[in-house]
Amino acid sequence: MSVLIEASDLQAHYITQSYGVQRTVKAVDGISLQIKEGEILSIAGESGCGKSTLLKTLLGSVEPPLRIIAGNIQYNFSQQKFDLSSTSADNLREIRWSLISYIPQGSMQVLNPVRKIVDTFHDFISTHKKINKNATKKLAQDYLNQLGLSSDIMNVYPHQLSGGMRQRVTIALATVLSPKLVFADEPTTALDVLVQRGVVQLLKEIQQREGNTLVLVSHDMGVHANLADRIAILYAGKLVEIGDAKSVFKKPKHPYTQYLIESLPRLGDRSERISIPGRPPALDQPPTGCRFHPRCPHVQDKCKEEVPPLIAMGNGQKVACFLAEDQI
Ligand SMILES: Nc1ncnc2c1ncn2[C@@H]1O[C@H](COP(=O)(O)OP(=O)(O)OP(=O)(O)O)[C@@H](O)[C@H]1O
Ligand SMILES: [Mg+2]
Repeated sequence: MSVLIEASDLQAHYITQSYGVQRTVKAVDGISLQIKEGEILSIAGESGCGKSTLLKTLLGSVEPPLRIIAGNIQYNFSQQKFDLSSTSADNLREIRWSLISYIPQGSMQVLNPVRKIVDTFHDFISTHKKINKNATKKLAQDYLNQLGLSSDIMNVYPHQLSGGMRQRVTIALATVLSPKLVFADEPTTALDVLVQRGVVQLLKEIQQREGNTLVLVSHDMGVHANLADRIAILYAGKLVEIGDAKSVFKKPKHPYTQYLIESLPRLGDRSERISIPGRPPALDQPPTGCRFHPRCPHVQDKCKEEVPPLIAMGNGQKVACFLAEDQI
C-alpha cells in the first residue's frame, strides 16, 4: 500500500491569553504517522487526548487559538502531491473538497435546519461543480439509493429525521463527490448502540465501494474493533501505539492500550469491565517522562523522568513504552 500522508513530528498547540497569562496546551506533541492509501485508520483515546486536534492538523484546518508549531505533512495523491505547509489557503480549499472530505465532530448540526435535504445537497454539490439543480437532485438521489437510503428523505427538513438518519445523510453528503480521503470525527457518538452499528456499516460500505482512505476518530474501541485496518492510540497529545488493528487488539503492547481494550464489553461476558483509574492529564502541564506514568500499573523510576520513544516491534506495530522495549 502506498503512503498517502506522511506526517512527521507534528506539534500543534492551543495558545490562549487570560488576564495577561499565556497558557499553552500541547494537544498534539511530536506525533509522526503515515496514512496508507485505501486503508481505514482508526484514531483512539479518551476524551481530551488530542484526537480532534490531530485531525485538524492533518487537514490544515487550523484556526486560532490552535497553531501548528512544527512538523511536516506531505500528501501524495496520485492526482496531486504537495506539502501542506507550503500550500495556499485557496489551493487547500479546492483540494479539500475535490480530494478530501471532513466530517467534523458534532456534525449532526452541519445540516442546515431551515433547508430541505435536497437543497443542502444542491448547495454543497454546486459549490464544487458547475451543475444545475436538476442534475444535483439526480446525483444526490442516485447516490442515496446506492447507499440504501430512501430518496424520500430529500424532501424533508433535518429535524424530521432521526439522529441516525441525520448522521447517514451527513456521511452521504460528505462522500457524494467521491473524495479520495475521508476524515470522520466521532461519527457515531450520541447515537444509540444499534443505530451506531448501521452508521459504521455505511462508512465501511462506502470505503469498500470507493476504495478510498478513511481516517476515523472515535473514543469507542468497539467501533474500531469492527472497522479498523490499522489503529493509532493517542494519550495526552502523544502517539503511544500504532499498528495493524488485529495485532493491536490481540496483543496490545502499551499498558494504556491494554486498559482501553480490557474496558470493552464482550459478548456474553457479564463480568464487570475494568475501567481505567484516574483521568488524562491537563495538557498545559503534562506529567514528566511518560505521560501515562501516574496511571500506569507497571510504572518504573525511568518512566517518571524519560519520555519513551516510539519503537518498532517488528510486525509493523510501534509502541512508546520502556516495558515493551524489553520484549523485542
Ligand atoms: N479551543 C481550545 N482552547 C484551548 N484548549 C483546547 C481547545 N480545544 C481543545 N483544547 C484542549 O486540547 C486538548 C485536546 O483536545 P481535543 O479536542 O483534540 O481532544 P479529543 O481527543 O478530540 O477529545 P474528545 O474525545 O472529547 O473529542 C484537550 O486538553 C482540550 O482541553
Ligand atoms: Mg474530539
